[in-house]
Amino acid sequence: MELLRAEGLERPDRVRSGRQGREVVLDGRSLVNFGSNDYLGYAGDVRLTKAASRAACAEGFGAGASPLVSGHSQAHAALEAAVAHLLDVEAALVFPSGFAANTATIPALVGPGDCVASDARNHASIIDGCRLSRADVRVYPHRDMLALETLLAESRAERKLIVTDTLFSMDGTLAPLADLCAVAHRHGAILMVDEAHATGVFGARGSGLVEAASCASGVHVRVGTFSKALGAAGGFVAGSSHLIHWLRHTARAWIFSTAHPPAVAAAGTKAIELLAAEPHRRCELLATAAAFRDDLTRQGIPLHGAAAHIVPVVAGRAEAAVALAGRLAAAGMFVPAIRPPSVPDGRSLVRASVAWHHTPNDLERLAAVLLQARS
Ligand SMILES: Cc1ncc(COP(=O)(O)O)c(C=O)c1O
Repeated sequence: MELLRAEGLERPDRVRSGRQGREVVLDGRSLVNFGSNDYLGYAGDVRLTKAASRAACAEGFGAGASPLVSGHSQAHAALEAAVAHLLDVEAALVFPSGFAANTATIPALVGPGDCVASDARNHASIIDGCRLSRADVRVYPHRDMLALETLLAESRAERKLIVTDTLFSMDGTLAPLADLCAVAHRHGAILMVDEAHATGVFGARGSGLVEAASCASGVHVRVGTFSKALGAAGGFVAGSSHLIHWLRHTARAWIFSTAHPPAVAAAGTKAIELLAAEPHRRCELLATAAAFRDDLTRQGIPLHGAAAHIVPVVAGRAEAAVALAGRLAAAGMFVPAIRPPSVPDGRSLVRASVAWHHTPNDLERLAAVLLQARS
């Protein structure tokens, strides 16, 4: 702890009161909220609460068992059907979290003697899934298709897996999906993508960047979460019925963990229903985020390739990011400082998560304070 403290890496013990929304109350202080993944404003939506409470009244609160025993309820089955329909795939499997989905799925697909190629900026749950697989893990530089191609060509493994976030959670950058599909095809590799921050936001139906890039046929395994834009909780894996059947027999975090509460599953199903009924939310969010990024770029703030609603502003050292977040908080805005191990050393940042409920004035104020703080 002393070392962490000395490096400016000690974490605050922040307590939120009330619900997520445009404003958030942290440690008793109300701030404009740029620090949640509630991109479409559904986390505090009473329609999710009502759906959850109906399911809790019908099925009770706890799932009571792991899915293969007796924990897999009608609410979970309905959610899996809704995910498969949204993504237009044969089947889906619901996990207690997106983290569990990744750590369970990668070791179910590859093992010792196989090769996994993983983007350097992938989420911690992918990194841990790779480690758990005990496969030969090769990390390629962020979005570097040439390096990926080279490492796959050099690998003698019979089974190869490429795994990547589609929207990188700390950088706001997008994976080159069409290129990844082509590389996977050329090398006979399985392509697994994690849409955690893209689910609900991208694509005409809101299923994610795979849909937006029209490359569903080249992607074999699609992971997503209900815990971000969908405002609920839990993760999913979607793909062929063969894949899902295999995971039911091999995905340890699914087999050996209590199913998440049916009420939570029902909230996820309601959110998917809302995606179809309220497409304007994702369109408005993407337009607002694009205008905000343009504004920052015009003012000379480098975005390092950020291309979505996650907008990081790099501060450098951990202390500098904390100081910048402090200045933003003093101006009434919660923009969290992100430090190692979430980002590499020397690349600490403040991360603004733009959401549907932000007003143009919120974003103008944020841009003005960022500009002032950097000058
Ligand atoms: C890319 C990515 N995958 C998975 C997860 C984990 O999802 P969950 O919060 O549902 O466990 C996150 C969470 O931040 C993420 O950013």
